[in-house]
Amino acid sequence: MMRMLAIESSCDETAAAIVRAGRWVEGNVVASQIALHATYGGVVPEIASRAHVQALVPVVRQAMEQAEVGWDDIDLVAGTKGPGLAGSLLIGLNAAKAIAYARDLPFLGVNHLEGHIYANWLAEASEEGIAPPAPEFPLLCLIVSGGHSDLVLMRGHGDLVRLGRTRDDAAGEAFDKVARILGLGFPGGPAIQKAAERGDPSRFPLPRAWLPGTYDFSFSGLKTAVLRLVEPLGKDVPVADVAASFQESVADVLSAKATRAAAAFGVHQLAIAGGVAANSALRQMVVERSPVSVRLPALKYCTDNAAMIASAAFGRYIAGARSDFATDVSPNLPVAPADRALEARR
Ligand code: KG4
Ligand code: ZN
Repeated sequence: MMRMLAIESSCDETAAAIVRAGRWVEGNVVASQIALHATYGGVVPEIASRAHVQALVPVVRQAMEQAEVGWDDIDLVAGTKGPGLAGSLLIGLNAAKAIAYARDLPFLGVNHLEGHIYANWLAEASEEGIAPPAPEFPLLCLIVSGGHSDLVLMRGHGDLVRLGRTRDDAAGEAFDKVARILGLGFPGGPAIQKAAERGDPSRFPLPRAWLPGTYDFSFSGLKTAVLRLVEPLGKDVPVADVAASFQESVADVLSAKATRAAAAFGVHQLAIAGGVAANSALRQMVVERSPVSVRLPALKYCTDNAAMIASAAFGRYIAGARSDFATDVSPNLPVAPADRALEARR
């Protein structure tokens, strides 16, 4: 069965993975640059690119060692083409192309956001035979990461339309910005979730941007509302309650819109993906409200990794995609074309 080597370098993680048949993870290595960027409170592109160059070869080696495979065992090489930081993408995509070229293997460029969806296909190679079956189409996907919030209808491999997107901040970005307002660490998502554990989510009724009649999101008003709430309090901010109330607001809107879309489009299952899909409040609310069965990726496959890129490459391969060395990086690549009927109604 087909074995993929994939490289992911779209932001601040240098990652490589070996995945068999689009599902079974044999090797998965993620080198995080978090420590390099933490003092700046965000990812510094130039630092990220340099760190990718340094980490790339060791990370690929480690993934192959974990998987106990050699070059002859690999059938296809994939790399993330976008969206992401141009300089970061260039390092991983060109390394993947170079490997494929040198080994005379086919090469595929993968959309990072489509990759996030495929986290729902992944399981450990040792779980083959006992892992739950692959997700079933049509699949409604909520992709919520540091840079994007998208609702996508997936009718099959390679057949995706975007139903909605964020009009301003991404969900993860909102978590990161509110964490900064509250003096919590970077990245903000895990820090807010931790602080919220001891908080009362109903203490502060924060705004929800419903944007009726659309499947779009908006989180910048919520961020501003948190700022207005916190500023006059000086040092006496009830951090846990604010964190819990903020998290509740985000999870409420995301889960309401995703489950509404799942019902409206008559999908078979609903999947969530991206870094924010690791959020326990969101996971719980989506499961509670969904009219169809929900797919939740393993926590370690929610945030950036290369196993999801390998799996997405396999999905595209099944859909008929073939080797394409002409693929270039595409920093602003959307997850999928917008749904025409929905666009027309806007
Ligand atoms: O998908 P990802 O790893 O990178 C991008 O492609 O952007 O997502 C990173 C984002 C960050 O904004 C981070 O704060 C958020 O995901 N995140 C979370 C949690 N874990 C990560 N947000 C909420 N709750 C979490 N547990
Ligand atoms: Zn990502």
